[in-house]
Amino acid sequence: APKYLAQVPTSYSWQDLKDAAAKCSACPLASKATQTVFGEGSLEADLMIVGEQPGDEEDLSGKAFVGPAGKVLAEALEKAGIIREKVYVTNAVKHFKWTAGESPEGKARIHKKPGGTEMHACKPWLEAEIALVKPKVIIALGVTAGTALYGRLVQVQSERERINTKSAFAEALTITWHPSAILRAMSEEEKLERMQNLISDLRKAFELAT
Ligand code: URA
Repeated sequence: APKYLAQVPTSYSWQDLKDAAAKCSACPLASKATQTVFGEGSLEADLMIVGEQPGDEEDLSGKAFVGPAGKVLAEALEKAGIIREKVYVTNAVKHFKWTAGESPEGKARIHKKPGGTEMHACKPWLEAEIALVKPKVIIALGVTAGTALYGRLVQVQSERERINTKSAFAEALTITWHPSAILRAMSEEEKLERMQNLISDLRKAFELAT
């Protein structure tokens, strides 16, 4: 049996799930994170947006996508004409993974990519959210969410305009840039292009869903 696996209640409301996830210590990330950051949004949403894991600000506030990447996502949603409250936004991994480092301001918690073990351990929460919300369309933001949902390693560049209709999770599954890939872009040109991609991919996913 796998060493780490979240224990999800068998029958649940969203609040039950959130409360149970708040106590989850199925993988070692729980001991270093401030709190579990569960997904939220409309429980009737036709579109679910799945990110990677909470960052520093999300870990402190308990809310997904409120930090720098969240601001990029908010801007992209607005430009795509999508009201955030009408979709459901969550992450593939619910605890912040970080390592101690230095920043210009002093000590910093440097984001670390979740590994396969953590993704696997946390997957039952994502599956339970999907089972509860039953979105028609799921859009993965970046490779971590993409890998969790596609069940294989996916690349954003080559796959972003494809609609996967073979997924067990939703009628349609697709992938786009993680907002951090926009913040990390090598040039102004690349940044603009990825932002345009994010906006149009979100818009297409939303139109497909509604
Ligand atoms: N990045 C993510 O993938 N999710 C968040 O909630 C914040 C940053």
